[in-house]
Amino acid sequence: MNEKNSKPAAWLACILCDATYTINAERYRCDCQGLLEVKRPREHFNASQIETFDQRKSDARSVLDQSGVWRFREAVLDTNENEIVSHPEGATRLYQRDSINHFAGLRKLYFKHEGENPTGSFKDRGMTVAVTQAMRMGKKTVACASTGNTSASLAAYAAQANLKSIVFVPDGQIANGKLAQTLAYGVRILKVRGDFDVAMKLVFEACRTLGIYLVNSINPFRIEGQKTIVWELLQDLKWHAPHWIALPGGNLGNTSAFGKAISEAYDAGWIARKPRLCVVQAHGANPFFRSYLNQFRNYEAVKAQTIASAIRIGNPVSFDKAKRAILETNGIVAEVTDEELMHAKRMIDSAGIGCEPASACSLAGVKKLRDQGVIEEHESVVCVLTGHLLKDADVLLSPPYNQVYETQIKTIEPTVSAVEQALANHD
Ligand code: F0G
Repeated sequence: MNEKNSKPAAWLACILCDATYTINAERYRCDCQGLLEVKRPREHFNASQIETFDQRKSDARSVLDQSGVWRFREAVLDTNENEIVSHPEGATRLYQRDSINHFAGLRKLYFKHEGENPTGSFKDRGMTVAVTQAMRMGKKTVACASTGNTSASLAAYAAQANLKSIVFVPDGQIANGKLAQTLAYGVRILKVRGDFDVAMKLVFEACRTLGIYLVNSINPFRIEGQKTIVWELLQDLKWHAPHWIALPGGNLGNTSAFGKAISEAYDAGWIARKPRLCVVQAHGANPFFRSYLNQFRNYEAVKAQTIASAIRIGNPVSFDKAKRAILETNGIVAEVTDEELMHAKRMIDSAGIGCEPASACSLAGVKKLRDQGVIEEHESVVCVLTGHLLKDADVLLSPPYNQVYETQIKTIEPTVSAVEQALANHD
């Protein structure tokens, strides 16, 4: 029996069968196993709201107005302002570089750098909302499975809110910087013998059995926060939608959030046309791409393997929502090899922007689609960079990619002549 409510401000709805549940129902799937999402009445959104959003951005005096999530608060979570757990987060920058335009063959290519969030990835945008909701529901313990960024974000927000938190990570498969960061904020870490997909399944079952609040992106409130990446970049572009928004796809929570953000912004009249989504997976972790190739007629999980550890995911939880996001935005799914994504990363890094390997999928995919003529030269594109360069520095310092940097680094004796000699040998 559904926990139905007559005319609430927001509720949870199943994306497959339209069953509804009250907003505070502690569940992530419908009885039919469909994923749940937050819904609001249509009249909740209107075109004049962007004036309020722009006013808050230019004033930005309070923590909530400084936050690139809570600046859009009426469309994120219905709550009292004093209940919000905010760092603040978001308010990330948009970059353009001639060298990368040239590389990609585009005139208007932007990077929205989500690595500029407080813990170095876009996850903070979802976590501020999920942790706020956990507090509103009186939860004492929260948990997630993670390839490293969600865990660091959860750890930081749980520390701020004084919540107990547990993270499940695939043993030996997360970057050292992310592990250290997660430890530093003070959470309990369970290293699961298995990959991310095994850890995800375990945390879901453990949370259900032990009454722990789950804050992976299967939690609909995470999606509500991550929508603001799109809204903020639209605001950065004065509400003129780009032709394309490109992002990497792993567990597909962000893809789901982007689809919902685009549809809500368009339906509200905030933008005049819908940008097309371009979701890019690594070749060795590409179940969404494979399913897209056969018009989503079937889906098979894969055993994931890629250098981009953040998206080493073979059985994405948010598949159904992400599929809807592609269909609703006339989107595209692409795949790139590790070599292609590392090449794109070098372009982003050497332009002085920098990002972690998974993030560079967005540019690698855009370049590929541009080369194939799918994206046209005159079209505007925003690539979302999901994580900071320092998140996965191990990749640059270990084989085979350390070879690329070999000529840049040399150990010398502490003498001026050694400096002179080193510089003379350098072109
Ligand atoms: N980029 C980075 C840097 C990520 O950390 C992730 C996911 C993604 C892209 C993919 O986003 O899962 O929403 O499709 N990281 C998760 C984590 C899985 O645990 O940190 P997605």
